[in-house]
Amino acid sequence: MIQRKKEKILITGGRGFIGTNFLRYIFSQADFSGSVVNLDKMTYAANPSSWQPLVSDKYLMVEGDICDQKLVEDLFAKHQFDCVIHFAAESHVDRSIHGPAEFVDSNVRGIMTLLEACRKFWKPDGQNLFVHMSTDEVFGPTPEGVLFDEQACYAPRNPYAATKAAADHLVAAYFHTYQLPVIIANSTNNYGAFQHPEKLIPLMLLNMLQQKELPLYGDGKHERDWIFVEDACAAIWKLVQRGKVGERYNIGTGKTCKNIELVETLCEMVAAQTQQDVSVYKNLIRFISERKGHDRRYALNSSKIQVETSWNPTHSFMQGLEKTVAWYLANQDWLKLSQNQDYQLWLNKNY
Ligand code: TYD
Repeated sequence: MIQRKKEKILITGGRGFIGTNFLRYIFSQADFSGSVVNLDKMTYAANPSSWQPLVSDKYLMVEGDICDQKLVEDLFAKHQFDCVIHFAAESHVDRSIHGPAEFVDSNVRGIMTLLEACRKFWKPDGQNLFVHMSTDEVFGPTPEGVLFDEQACYAPRNPYAATKAAADHLVAAYFHTYQLPVIIANSTNNYGAFQHPEKLIPLMLLNMLQQKELPLYGDGKHERDWIFVEDACAAIWKLVQRGKVGERYNIGTGKTCKNIELVETLCEMVAAQTQQDVSVYKNLIRFISERKGHDRRYALNSSKIQVETSWNPTHSFMQGLEKTVAWYLANQDWLKLSQNQDYQLWLNKNY
């Protein structure tokens, strides 16, 4: 089994949901002794500094845009990265439906800038690695009873998914054309601490606590394969250490849950924690008109990463959800992110 050691890592989007969790994860790993530069644009989705958990002489936060070629090249020249882990992206499907242009900028032009910097600064000596965090949405809806593996065809069906698919293709093209050492990770829906309250799970928890309606698109029977973010972070770290260059890997649990079942479970967990009758929360559920381009089901087969890197998710969905609900209830200030001005403006414009 390959065992790489990376010491000078550039993380993009380290103030975002998965990036924040990943930073906490690697700095807690005994097998990481290196340093990290976190390049983050600090958009509406970035977590505020009061929530930034890291104070370390091995960590540097740089506020800036991955599309800024000069900034990216200056960072490469100064820090001599041996690894890039690319999380920065516009990721909310609803926003991409209302305004796709920003998604093309960040998700396509942004990755292009990073790939070009790697090509310019990295010698072809096999010492470096570019890991691209992508999504299951690039494959489009997974038929009932099927788990997509790494051979699935690309069939993105909303603007967000289309930009992530374009990014995946660029990464693969840089491997084949320029032999850039890359790995692509296609992950299912992540959930856990530090997620912006525009996403399903924190949104439902926030609304429950404020006695607001719980909006479910369509009939609420859309299925997602939910992975606890700490398990996804462990998977990315395994890929950094053991993934094969030029390969793509799925990260998921292979189990799905319908949105309505998930929200009902959240109602039960919050009711138990707040000593309320569960009907107080379940009565808030509302079925609203369908999201445009809403894929019915996403589900991935992750045997490849399990076999090749010995990664396995360590949380069942119920365990992960229990931890997640407990975290949001204990950190209700986090949910005040939804009072962020940009988020409110966006909600007012679009709902
Ligand atoms: P989301 O967290 O936006 O992730 P994605 O669309 O990328 O999978 O949504 C997860 C599921 O929850 C998806 O089927 C859409 C649905 N959903 C709702 O029904 N209501 C909501 O308010 C939100 C945000 C999502």
